[in-house]
Amino acid sequence: MKKEITIHGQKFEQFIKAETIAARVKQIAHSLNETATEDTVFVILLNGAFVFAADLMRELNFTPPTLFIKVTSYHGLDTTGEVQFDHELIAPLRGKKIIIIEDIIDTGTTLHHFIASLSHAGVADVQICSLLYKPNKLKHPIKIDHIGFEIGDLFVIGYGLDYDEVGRNLRDIYVIC
Ligand code: IMP
Ligand code: MG
Repeated sequence: MKKEITIHGQKFEQFIKAETIAARVKQIAHSLNETATEDTVFVILLNGAFVFAADLMRELNFTPPTLFIKVTSYHGLDTTGEVQFDHELIAPLRGKKIIIIEDIIDTGTTLHHFIASLSHAGVADVQICSLLYKPNKLKHPIKIDHIGFEIGDLFVIGYGLDYDEVGRNLRDIYVIC
């Protein structure tokens, strides 16, 4: 039987186990070890990517610079379509190669706007690494270089992802019932 949890009166059931996530994170790190270089800046999008980034970065066999940027675009179950972040943080990325570490790509709105700002700021090369990806929801053309898991049009929590700021610390990923 699947593990179930309730958050704010909403039921969620176990969807991707911690061991499965860990194995996939190792595979992604392995491929980054082959392709990324010491001068690639790892740009970690907060809040959601903090758990994924922590596990992924500790599997790397090199020590790239890291930058944390808090990007907000989401409230409860719906994307607002607005993307906000501190633009001063990306100015030092001019001429740099970067890899964006993201928790989940849903409509792609967040990344679409963020990447436009990066290109405006003169970033030389942008790669994308996302733990989760919902291909059916994508509204903007985005080339994703590293994907952990493709999922359906489902709302998920855990491993950094939240339901109204709750559930980020769950070891497994859960799906809404
Ligand atoms: P997008 O802009 O629609 O691609 O949404 C991206 C952001 O929305 C992600 O970085 C998450 O913070 C949030 N998000 C999208 N789908 C989910 C989900 O299923 N659970 C929790 N957060 C989500
Ligand atoms: Mg996010």
